Amino acid sequence: MNLKVKTNINNYSVIIGKNLCPKINKIILKERIYSQKFLLVYDSKVPTKMIKSILNRFNTKKIEKKKIVFNERSKNLKTVNSILKILEEKNYSRNDCLISVGGGICGDVCGFASSIFKRGLNFVNVPTTLLSQVDSAIGGKTGVNSLSGKNMIGSFYQPSLVISDINFLKSLPKKEMICGYAEILKHSLINNKTFFKFLKKNFIKILNHDRKVLESAIYKSCLIKKEIVEKDEKEKNIRKVLNLGHTFAHAYEATIGYNKGLNHGEAVLLGIMSAVEFGRQKNILKKKDYEEIIGHLKKLDYCNLNKYFKTKDISKIIYYMKQDKKNKNSKINLILLKSISKPILDKSFEQNKIRSFLKNLVY
Ligand SMILES: NC(=O)c1ccc[n+]([C@@H]2O[C@H](COP(=O)([O-])OP(=O)(O)OC[C@H]3O[C@@H](n4cnc5c(N)ncnc54)[C@H](O)[C@@H]3O)[C@@H](O)[C@H]2O)c1
Repeated sequence: MNLKVKTNINNYSVIIGKNLCPKINKIILKERIYSQKFLLVYDSKVPTKMIKSILNRFNTKKIEKKKIVFNERSKNLKTVNSILKILEEKNYSRNDCLISVGGGICGDVCGFASSIFKRGLNFVNVPTTLLSQVDSAIGGKTGVNSLSGKNMIGSFYQPSLVISDINFLKSLPKKEMICGYAEILKHSLINNKTFFKFLKKNFIKILNHDRKVLESAIYKSCLIKKEIVEKDEKEKNIRKVLNLGHTFAHAYEATIGYNKGLNHGEAVLLGIMSAVEFGRQKNILKKKDYEEIIGHLKKLDYCNLNKYFKTKDISKIIYYMKQDKKNKNSKINLILLKSISKPILDKSFEQNKIRSFLKNLVY
């Protein structure tokens, strides 16, 4: 299955399927990426046999590799620098290519390094988690975390090619499959009620790697993201809807200190739950749709903020919500739903409103 993402700067293919890694060199050439040198940066948890299946396709003199332990704490400028150092020392040119093989963190870091090295070299993203295949590999948002919060330093830089081989997902822990499912669910909620109904019926099959259903959910999810990104590449307007639940989610992750107790996808599920509860409390979201969404989230077991936070954490959560990039003034901006597939942008609320809302969820 192929998609073409068309942006102001470049058009690129997203190729989704099985056993794509052993064909990677051919795919790269077919996409007219004529690089002389490749740097393959990969996540330490990606199985070695998958990395070898890529490396074997290149002349050893033309490719170098760098293994990195990626997590939210290493998603920083130091890691970016370690990649830039190799590119500089080995004198890569703009026509050469950085290949990222890993999850959303690896892709965001490598994308950012690619965007700033000589103002941009070819970047091929090979996402290896469900979350990165359905969401982060598409759309050109790159970046790293900083003291003030998540993804605060970054750029918009579109890849030259995305190759999503579903074989990578075989080694992915179930928890990470659920995290990827969070972003698929988000896409359905902001854009397509039929897709939401499909997910409600098929989510167990997706989590259990049923090939047909999984591939179709990945494709549909990428299609929704592609259409939104093409309308608003730099997130001036409609692209903001992709942040449904994320103002809460990013604050939850930062408050917990980016540890394994709550990773990004899990925070997104809690964030969607929070945005849905808040929308209902403010009488914005239709009751019937609220019940359908919360019913589904309960099946996934991500409805209880008390499992993760105590009352004393609320001020910290509010602090990080105030840092959100979408905020224009002292109020906190939230993406909410009127109904399934009808998101609303630019609703901002005084922090006290959100504080008292959170006090009902965390006690
Ligand atoms: N750029 C965007 O538009 C965008 C969109 C959504 C999320 N994100 C970012 O993506 C990140 C989350 O991505 P993620 O969920 O992929 O996290 P991740 O990159 O941390 O990967 C999740 C875990 O899976 C491991 N892993 C990766 N591939 C594996 C494989 N094939 N087999 C076994 N283990 C594997 C990783 O080592 C990690 O422990 C966050 O930092 C988030 O901010 C970016």
